Amino acid sequence: MNARDFEGLVAVVTGGASGIGLATARELAARGARVAVLDRNADVEAPLEAYTADVTDRASVDAAIAAVAERFGGIDIVVNNAGIGAIGSVADNDDDEWARVLDVNVIGMARVSAATLPWLRRSQAAAIVNTCSIAALAGLPDRALYSASKGAVLALTRAMATDHVREGIRVNCVCPGTAATPWVERLLSQADDPAAELAALNARQAIGRLVTAEEIARSIAYLASPLSGSTTGSALEVDGGFTNARVRPLTS
Ligand code: NAI
Repeated sequence: MNARDFEGLVAVVTGGASGIGLATARELAARGARVAVLDRNADVEAPLEAYTADVTDRASVDAAIAAVAERFGGIDIVVNNAGIGAIGSVADNDDDEWARVLDVNVIGMARVSAATLPWLRRSQAAAIVNTCSIAALAGLPDRALYSASKGAVLALTRAMATDHVREGIRVNCVCPGTAATPWVERLLSQADDPAAELAALNARQAIGRLVTAEEIARSIAYLASPLSGSTTGSALEVDGGFTNARVRPLTS
């Protein structure tokens, strides 16, 4: 692998101030990209550059993307990663919660992609990577709304890949399994027995541990890299074998 495969390219990473997004922003920067982090709480260290925007607010997205393009002279790579969770079955989330989660997780990607398309069309290495989830591929307990949002991300990825392939823009997604990020730390801290909850999550992974943010970041970078020019419309599982490797449960 060329360790500087993003040299000369400009990347936007939404939700890039924390967890998977932050690890991705750092990975792309380490491999030569100039990276703009777009986050509602944008607070990042150099060489990353922070742009405060809320992906549910089209005006704030348009303004941030215009500022990034002005600053760097273009945009080549977009990582649509900002997302929020929701817990419960279909009986548990009210209409406002449904609207709020779909607004961030699905429409947010559409807003950011639409705002960046004019710049991507001018790039020789245009790529979008969306952060999907294993929740799009398998049923998880108490994740009805979240799964619906990520199922939409998977379908949106393929639709966008199709719409923009002839414009030279590749669109792919990663489907992470449960990852050790501040998000999951928040969930664990709210559990009745955090240690037992972590043990159960680890056991759900074929590899027996949570995925790291850095592992997902490297997969996002793989899909975004100009070295992956033939890869579009794909969904890459980064899930410790959760989806496809059916191991026998360990017995103690
Ligand atoms: P995180 O909570 O650590 O980071 C999410 C970032 O997105 C935060 O910096 C937050 O400020 C930002 N954000 C949230 N709403 C926003 C909005 N409306 N506008 C702009 N920025 C916003 O979460 P994590 O774990 O890094 O998750 C990132 C993505 O990965 C999400 O799309 C999530 O659904 C997905 N994912 C996470 C998994 C996990 O186990 N942590 C597993 C599979 C997918």
